[in-house]
Amino acid sequence: MSTKIKHPIFARIYQRLSASMEAAGVAEHRKRLLTGLVGRVVEVGAGNGLNFSHYPDTVTEVIAIEPEPYLRARAVLAAQNATVVKISVIDGDAEHLPLDDASVDCAVASLVLCSVPNQSAALAEIRRVLRPGGELRFYEHVRASNMWLSRFQRLVDPIWTRFAGGCRLTRNTLEAIQAAGFVVDECEQFLFQPRLAAKIAAPHILGRAHKS
Ligand SMILES: C[S@@+](CC[C@H](N)C(=O)[O-])C[C@H]1O[C@@H](n2cnc3c(N)ncnc32)[C@H](O)[C@@H]1O
Repeated sequence: MSTKIKHPIFARIYQRLSASMEAAGVAEHRKRLLTGLVGRVVEVGAGNGLNFSHYPDTVTEVIAIEPEPYLRARAVLAAQNATVVKISVIDGDAEHLPLDDASVDCAVASLVLCSVPNQSAALAEIRRVLRPGGELRFYEHVRASNMWLSRFQRLVDPIWTRFAGGCRLTRNTLEAIQAAGFVVDECEQFLFQPRLAAKIAAPHILGRAHKS
């Protein structure tokens, strides 16, 4: 059941901004994120469905969970245009996935573990629905390792989160993934700041982990 997450203004801004962000490099990151995925996939917080066109044809089914109504409607449209993979877009949230235990081969989280209200609950749910050995692919902006930027993130975080749909700047998502019982197989850490994005959200991680 969805926790009724509604961010109508942020959702409309994201819909507009995300197109130019794709061109500025996010699309390329999505492609790398999803390369090599196989089987049945759950995508948590699928937003307006920008990953959909990047799934390889080795994926047989995508269950895309999105709680925000405006973005979910956009995701439904994107799913209709994604010809390669069967995609269902479902109302729900990452903390309560409407899936059986060990029922998916892979999970995808892109730019969402920053925004879920309860990150450890969301990761525990992802782990629950993954089959043993199943893979989590992640692409997230995270807390800076640079001390000054990290302090600045902490300072700005309370204001940022109000205007950015609940997004937090200060999460150490890699550590949280490991704490949730995943084994990280690969993780790139890089600064990414396309023209329209804030420097304060530049530190990113992109990688894969498996359920041990
Ligand atoms: C910055 S957008 C990213 C959307 C998409 N994943 C992408 O890569 O473009 C953050 C998304 O997280 C979603 N979100 C927020 N809280 C959530 C939750 N508890 N469970 C699942 N998704 C959530 C928002 O509705 C929004 O779609």
